[in-house]
Amino acid sequence: MPAERLQKILARAGYASRRQAEVVIAAGRVTVNGELAALGARADLEVDRIEVDGAPIRIDPADVTIVLNKPTGFVVTAEDERGRRTVYDLLPGAPPHLRYVGRLDRDTSGLLIMTTDGELAHRLTHPRYEVPKTYEAVVEGQVADEGIARLRSGVRLEEGQTLPAQVERMGRDAESTQLRITIHEGHNRQVRRMFETIGHRVTRLTRTRVGPLTLDHLALGESRNVTDAELTELRRLVGLA
Ligand code: URA
Repeated sequence: MPAERLQKILARAGYASRRQAEVVIAAGRVTVNGELAALGARADLEVDRIEVDGAPIRIDPADVTIVLNKPTGFVVTAEDERGRRTVYDLLPGAPPHLRYVGRLDRDTSGLLIMTTDGELAHRLTHPRYEVPKTYEAVVEGQVADEGIARLRSGVRLEEGQTLPAQVERMGRDAESTQLRITIHEGHNRQVRRMFETIGHRVTRLTRTRVGPLTLDHLALGESRNVTDAELTELRRLVGLA
């Protein structure tokens, strides 16, 4: 393969977007064959040793797994027939076949896993593994203890009874209540519909955790590679490690 711009290589290897890769290069974190790399430098993935923070970058893009902090207003789909912005617009340098793991509504923000590992994606969304997903929700009105108890023990949706959930009230004001909820399935608009069953409309929803993965300090619209430790933990959760 001929030499390519470093930011393109890094993006393909999972540094998500070229712009982010440029930041990593500009920060002096990248070396090519032991030499500090300058922005715009070229390299050949097959012959050069490229390191970020002293660790060789993954040459095999077949199993790139990233976490994206999805802003509201972006649709989780490969192509939107209505021409709306999709999560792929946030990942211009994404490796081919990077697929999303479950969906977030257009009006939901937060943690979205994306991976080129089809088996991992499949298992993470399979109901058998009951991967916990945590959301922070703002809902209209005051949520009574009884409503919280109902959410915890499970409510009836058209798909059936929801599994026991962890629900905590985080705060409230005159018009709204903030809650944290952890669910173990991934039905379409599940959290919004669960709150509807107890009479509350969700006005803001953010996913903050999936299994062992959190957003850390990832800004909205930014993405990061999962670490090796996170990947091992994630794979263990779904019987792959
Ligand atoms: N539950 C919802 O209601 N929306 C999401 O995007 C995710 C979970």
